This record gives sequence, structure tokens and C-alpha cells, in this order.
Amino acid sequence: MATHIVHVPVLLTEVLEHLPVPLRGRVLDLTLGLGGHAQAILAQVGPEIRYLGVDRDPHAREMTKGRLGSDARLTIMAGTYEEVWDDPAFQAWCHLQAPKGFDVVLMDLGISTLHLKDVSRGFSFMDEGPLDMRMDTDHGLTALEWIQEQTEETLADAIFRFGEERASRPIARAILKALEAGRLSTTRDLAAAVYAVIPREPAKRKGLSDPATRTFQGIRIAVNGELEGLGAAINAAISHLRPEGRIGVISFHSLEDRIVKQTLRRLAGIHDGPGRIPPSPLPKLLRLIYGGGIAPTEDEIRANPPSRSARLRIGERLQAEAPRVP
Ligand SMILES: C[S@@+](CC[C@H](N)C(=O)[O-])C[C@H]1O[C@@H](n2cnc3c(N)ncnc32)[C@H](O)[C@@H]1O
Repeated sequence: MATHIVHVPVLLTEVLEHLPVPLRGRVLDLTLGLGGHAQAILAQVGPEIRYLGVDRDPHAREMTKGRLGSDARLTIMAGTYEEVWDDPAFQAWCHLQAPKGFDVVLMDLGISTLHLKDVSRGFSFMDEGPLDMRMDTDHGLTALEWIQEQTEETLADAIFRFGEERASRPIARAILKALEAGRLSTTRDLAAAVYAVIPREPAKRKGLSDPATRTFQGIRIAVNGELEGLGAAINAAISHLRPEGRIGVISFHSLEDRIVKQTLRRLAGIHDGPGRIPPSPLPKLLRLIYGGGIAPTEDEIRANPPSRSARLRIGERLQAEAPRVP
């Protein structure tokens, strides 16, 4: 297991500015990762704040425990943002430490540098690793096991929907052909199946992104069920915010951002569905801060290119549930 990987937290300045932690604040970080945001927030606040960091990845939790575990203000908990709400350990922590709810909830979605840099995790087509791609290495199917369960149609569907890859059908065919021939056990094998459909060199010459990027993203999202419970998780997070508490969600691609945006807008009482008037008035639980979301500055993108697609959306819990007049 890699022990030296550092994750550069994205939109950190904006997180610190727009998600202020009061003196005795309670922070819920649902994607603790390598603790980049956690460390920066903890460095800014006093001894009385309490910071609960949740992550589904046991390696990330272990590494962050090694780096920040001696800080008594921080509690690190195993879990997912879909399911942590029902966990007795989470409920006990909230009961004891945050009976009035959280002042700040942070969700920094997707994978971290750990996933891309530790080749044994199987997320990167740049290196040879096993076809794993699970964020939680203790549970669920590896990417290879997941692919073994797919038909050409379901595989193509995942690559198309989650990877937004237009050549999804021939790529799915090439992947299953490699599987049948016993040539699909590593990340390089998967990338080779993609390159058999979209050659790598011409894309490279034109300065386009590697043709394997979209297929890897599609399979990774499917393997980890990344979009399934996101909307419900944001709803649950908001119900744990105290009045005037803020939620910040950072997404990295349009599929995630669409869910985040629609969920926050609905909770802000904004009707996006067909027709001008919603079927029933939407309760207004939130106020949106920067309706369009916040993107990284050019300086940040230059310093940390993976931040380029990030978007931070923020909502502030209202004092009381105010019904919206349609
Ligand atoms: C972008 S990284 C977070 C990086 C972190 N903010 C930092 O600065 O180090 C996303 C983290 O969320 C975790 N994660 C992804 N989906 C999750 C889920 N459904 N529940 C809990 N953790 C999740 C991943 O394991 C990963 O460590």
C-alpha cells in the first residue's frame, strides 16, 4: 500500500471562504479522502470545533489517520455518504457532538490522487495494475468481475452513460472479445481494447485526451455506483444541517454536477421540471449561494490541472421550513 501520496484539495480557498466554521463549529466531511480539506480547515479553527470525516476507502482512512489522527478534534469513520446516516456509530457521534446539527457539510466527489497514483488500485490506464477500480476494497465487485457479468449491451450502456463515450458499442465489443480470449486482467489490457477501436497516437498528436479516459470513467462510475445515491445523500446531509449551516459539494463531471445542481435547486424551492408551475409547492429548505456554482481560477488550474473540471455548489439551510408560494 502506498503511504506517501498527497492529494491537493481543489477549490480550497473557495471552500474556506464560503463554508466558514464558527467557533464551536461542527463539520461533517463526507469524503475525507487524504484529508487535504480537513487539514486546511482544522489549521484555521480553534480547539472547540469537532470534525467528523467519513470515507468509504479503507486505505485513504488509514493514510489520513497516520497524517492527522493525532488531532483530537478529528474523528475518522468508515462509511458511505449513501448509508452513513443509519450507522449507529454515526448517530451516536451526532447525538453527543452535534445535537443541533452541523455547521458545515462538505462533499468532494469522485476519486482522489491515491486512486490514480497507487497502481495496485487499478484506476489508471497510465500504468499496469489489476482491473479493480473499487473505492472500497473490502466490498463489491472488482472492475474485472463486473465486466464478466455484463453483456455487450449493458457494458456499452455504462460506457455511454457514465463515460459519455460515443464509440461505446464497438469498445464494449472489443473489451468482451479480449475477455473471451483471456487477454483482460490488467488496466493496460482494458486500455488496449479501447485503443483497438480508437487508436491512441492520432489523439495524442492532436492534443486530445487519451481515448481510454471516457471508458475508464464509465466503468469506474458503474463499479462504484457513484451516481446512484448522490441526490438522496445531499438530501440527508441537508437534513443534518443546523439553520444557517452550509453544504458545499464539489463535482468533477457534468453527470455529477447535474444531480448536485438539480437537487440543490429543488431544495431551494426552484422548479425545473416541465411546465411553469410545480405540481405542488416545493418546500424551501435552502438558499443557494452563487447559483451557477464556483469554478477554479486559472491559477488553480495551472497549478493543479485535475481541478479543471471542478465545480463547487453551495447551499445555506434556512431558519425554518418556509413553504414556497408558486
Ligand atoms: C476527491 S476525494 C476527496 C479528497 C479530500 N477532500 C482531500 O482533500 O483529501 C473523494 C473521496 O471520497 C471518497 N468517496 C467516494 N464516494 C464515496 C461515498 N459514496 N461515500 C464515502 N466516501 C466516498 C473516495 O474514497 C475519496 O477518498
